[in-house]
Amino acid sequence: MGRVAIVTGGTRGIGAAICTRLKEDGFAVAANYGGDEAKAAEFTKETGIPSYKWDVSDFDACVAGCKQVAADLGPVDVVVNNAGITRDATMRKMDHDGWQKVLDVNLGGCFNMSKAVWNTMLERGYGRIVNIGSINGQAGQYGQVNYAAAKSGIHGFTKALAQEGASKGITVNAIAPGYIDTDMVAAVPANVLEKIVARIPVGRLGHAEEIARGVAFLVAEDAGFVTGSTLSINGGQHMY
Ligand code: CAA
Repeated sequence: MGRVAIVTGGTRGIGAAICTRLKEDGFAVAANYGGDEAKAAEFTKETGIPSYKWDVSDFDACVAGCKQVAADLGPVDVVVNNAGITRDATMRKMDHDGWQKVLDVNLGGCFNMSKAVWNTMLERGYGRIVNIGSINGQAGQYGQVNYAAAKSGIHGFTKALAQEGASKGITVNAIAPGYIDTDMVAAVPANVLEKIVARIPVGRLGHAEEIARGVAFLVAEDAGFVTGSTLSINGGQHMY
């Protein structure tokens, strides 16, 4: 049995592509999901990858979820913190709930999941954590003070935790995707999205598989010298 990986938000979009890719690369993969049970069941049926429901913004649920995965598949070697939500609105219209939820899921989820596996990784002297940030955490985005703050926080979190893991065999890296052809991006108003795509030098939206390719690189056994880095995969939209 290969190394064990948990991918949060793993049954749809970028997360599903990451799960599939890691399975192809020989990992025993667990896909976490937060809400859509029908979609998760369909994903598991299609891929054979088990799915586990818990809310990444709930610390106790993360601890219990990781414990369950370890009992089923073995100690967790890899965590990909991919779960994320948007509640886009201009500052004028954003309410406190829309701010807090995005912070709790996108950034709080990274802490909760990393904390849930960290001591075991330290004890075993091995770990790979990959946090999915965003171009909008690097550059900001109109209508996303919540999302940009959370994703920017992920980039800081990554660099800080990488320093703690470096001498213990644990790498912590981030990927900053640009605009990828997922449901999340499809929810952007068409007239706004059109303008965004026009600013992508490669001339198209990215594909989830192109993010999964980056994750596969960062979680590989022989990527031990890569830590604290942010890999931008954005079609040249923001060169950072
Ligand atoms: N820059 C400058 N002005 C902008 C703007 C921009 N990017 N976008 C909108 N505006 C302006 C509009 O022109 C308009 O101006 P006027 O009032 O002077 O006409 C004003 O802002 C209000 O715009 P809307 O009518 O669109 O306002 P709204 O309240 O209906 O919606 C919004 C605002 C929610 C921000 C909407 O424009 C939106 O959803 N934008 C997309 C945000 C976005 O890119 N989200 C990314 C989601 S995908 C993702 O996050 C994944 C990832 O990691 C990349």
